[in-house]
Amino acid sequence: MMQARSDRMRRQFKTIVFVPTMGFLHEGHLSLVREGKKHGDDLVVSIFVNPAQFAPGEDLESYPRDLDRDLELLREEGVDAVFNPDAKEIYGKEFQTYVELKKLPNHLCGISRPIFFKGVATVVAKLFNIVKPHVTVFGQKDYQQLVIIRQMVRDLGFDIEVVGAPTVREPDGLAMSSRNAYLAPEQRTSALSLYKSLQKAQELLENGIQDATIIIDAATELIQSLPETKIDYIAICDTETLVDIKTIDKPVLMALAVKVGKARLIDNMILNPQLD
Ligand code: PAF
Repeated sequence: MMQARSDRMRRQFKTIVFVPTMGFLHEGHLSLVREGKKHGDDLVVSIFVNPAQFAPGEDLESYPRDLDRDLELLREEGVDAVFNPDAKEIYGKEFQTYVELKKLPNHLCGISRPIFFKGVATVVAKLFNIVKPHVTVFGQKDYQQLVIIRQMVRDLGFDIEVVGAPTVREPDGLAMSSRNAYLAPEQRTSALSLYKSLQKAQELLENGIQDATIIIDAATELIQSLPETKIDYIAICDTETLVDIKTIDKPVLMALAVKVGKARLIDNMILNPQLD
């Protein structure tokens, strides 16, 4: 049905813009939707909690969901269509074709979540074939996901423009995430240490410290000083290959994942050295 709709829109020379989500929408998602509006005249949002990107023991079952509220928010944003398939529709009987990238998933989140990006790339490829967009919008908060989707689009020749949209933050700086819903009030302060450590990193760099290890150590110390934090990784790496960088002499990506209580949170920032 969605494919037939997409064909109809294309016959009417509409530019289809697609924003994939897993629902439980917040301002971050809505900013992707608003960005999407600028790029076309038929805006499609998918809501699908993709089982293939959750490992056993992760939060697939408990992942927050509120479809009615999501639909209301999307209606308010003037979205043209919402695609909310069930798992059977995406992974029909004996599904066996997966999209797997060779290098980009071997860094950052891919290390502790080895099946995650295979699940993401596979579902996004399938959603692209169903929604048939001209343009798609992904958030820079999931930076690794964004570079992986760009790579997949190039590698597989999807005729789709990938737009990256900036991270939306709470007034105190915490990056918006559906998983923030897991945070108890006292864990909120600990969660803020992700953004604070990124700001601290940029400050150190501006004070002339270009050694990535020193910056990562400072971030580690800051985060570990707060209760209920467990660092998964803190990395400073190349913005395209995601390979670690030792000396910061060009803009680099600093990315981190930290468990705060049961919420696994991620954040990132492009660090810019002030070179003359
Ligand atoms: O970023 C997300 O919410 C998901 O990884 C995505 C892109 C919707 C694929 O399931």
